[in-house]
Amino acid sequence: MTLTLENVSFSYRTRYQTVNAVKDVSCAFEAGTFSALVGRSGSGKTTLLSLMAGLEKPDSGTITVNGESMAQADIDRLRREQVSVIYQNYNLFPLLTVLENVMYPLLLKKMPRKEAEQLARKTLARVGLDAGYYKRLPAMLSGGEQQRVAIARTLASGTEIILADEPTGNLDGENARNIVDLLKGLAHEDGCCVVVVTHDTGIADQADAVYRMDSGALTLDQDLG
Ligand SMILES: Nc1ncnc2c1ncn2[C@@H]1O[C@H](COP(=O)(O)OP(=O)(O)OP(=O)(O)O)[C@@H](O)[C@H]1O
Ligand SMILES: [Mg+2]
Repeated sequence: MTLTLENVSFSYRTRYQTVNAVKDVSCAFEAGTFSALVGRSGSGKTTLLSLMAGLEKPDSGTITVNGESMAQADIDRLRREQVSVIYQNYNLFPLLTVLENVMYPLLLKKMPRKEAEQLARKTLARVGLDAGYYKRLPAMLSGGEQQRVAIARTLASGTEIILADEPTGNLDGENARNIVDLLKGLAHEDGCCVVVVTHDTGIADQADAVYRMDSGALTLDQDLG
């Protein structure tokens, strides 16, 4: 699975001004790699992630997933089957329990309920959440626990491209390290293509490649692989 961007540009246009948030970005994110995306506030990191997730369409340039252009792809299918996004604020469904949150994308994919429940239990165990958590609502969890549910949901959905926007922004050091280990494992053990936006140099240090956004332009900071 490869996610490729070629000469991608994107602007936010309002009545009063145009912000060129992403400028002529070209790069390729490969399966099995854990990439970090760093850069100052407002440099365009979240915008780039939204483009890569198919949530925004580029003004020019192309984004391809495994050679298939996103412009041609069925975005709903893409999001169900290939690309998932983990947000800083977790985006869990507040009225669904922990178990239901993880089962949700599986049921959307028409997985039988029993099978979905088994897989949800298995992936929750992988992120260190046992049966005691299944029936709780997200509001009854700590920030780190909510983030782990969000990651379990991503794990269970089995998408090979995982984009995370400041996934450890609200977490303490130990929880942050656990989340990073999980994301790294997804790349190195499960062969996923993982891209993480982060301000945390501790995370960037562990990445296979570090990309830097600067006023909408992307450069490769260092390549340790
Ligand atoms: N909906 C919007 N409408 C207009 N301008 C926007 C919108 N969203 C973001 N921008 C502008 O686009 C630029 C890039 O924003 P973006 O959110 O991608 O930055 P970022 O690198 O993620 O910043 P941060 O680290 O603070 O999250 C900024 O100048 C921002 O003000
Ligand atoms: Mg952002």
